[in-house]
Amino acid sequence: MQLDFSSLSARDAYSWMISTIVPRPIAWVSTISPDGVTNLAPFSFFQGVCANPPTLMFVPVNNRQGDPKDTIRNIEAVPEFAVNLVSHELGQAMSNTAALLPYGESEFATFGIEPAVSEKIRPPRVAAAPVAYECILDRIVHIGEGPLAANVVFGRILALHMRDELLGEDGLPDTRKLDLIGRMGGDDYTTTRDTFTMERPD
Ligand SMILES: Cc1cc2nc3c(=O)[nH]c(=O)nc-3n(C[C@H](O)[C@H](O)[C@H](O)COP(=O)(O)O)c2cc1C
Repeated sequence: MQLDFSSLSARDAYSWMISTIVPRPIAWVSTISPDGVTNLAPFSFFQGVCANPPTLMFVPVNNRQGDPKDTIRNIEAVPEFAVNLVSHELGQAMSNTAALLPYGESEFATFGIEPAVSEKIRPPRVAAAPVAYECILDRIVHIGEGPLAANVVFGRILALHMRDELLGEDGLPDTRKLDLIGRMGGDDYTTTRDTFTMERPD
């Protein structure tokens, strides 16, 4: 089969994309409003971008009314955020925070997620996250207009937090110990437990 994307609604294009671009890592993003209310939400349109300067990106799309999500509202007002990574044991807590809460109601408080103070930014990070990046906003690139249009957030990485026991013998993170999950299509997830090694050609 083949599919002409010019004939698809945004909703259908989204369904095809999230069922095929898999697995996707999950950025569990904490932000803060100008009056100090925290926000936490997961985003699986997420990737590292480059190391010079250290940069990552994630994509809160507009909601069904065509308005920006709380994460974007906060970052536009306070241009700092933490990207927390999600281990298998944090999966359910992460999923809870995708709930539609009124702006100004914190997912940390509502779902009993323990925050930890960040060093260089105002939003807290998730204390139990195996890895958390502290970032400042580099830029937001807007793609499209209306419902599901993108606000691509590029963040400059300032710092990383990780527990010492997650280090491997080579002094770098042991990705198996992080035990991260990824998002598949629909409500499906995958683990990172089944890995294999393949050497690159010279
Ligand atoms: C695993 C997972 C991945 C998600 N990925 C995205 C995404 O990449 N972009 C997006 O806009 N929403 C995504 N969502 C939905 C948002 O998390 C949801 O709309 C949330 O309420 C937004 O929160 P906010 O309004 O506090 O920013 C995802 C949800 C889950 C559970």
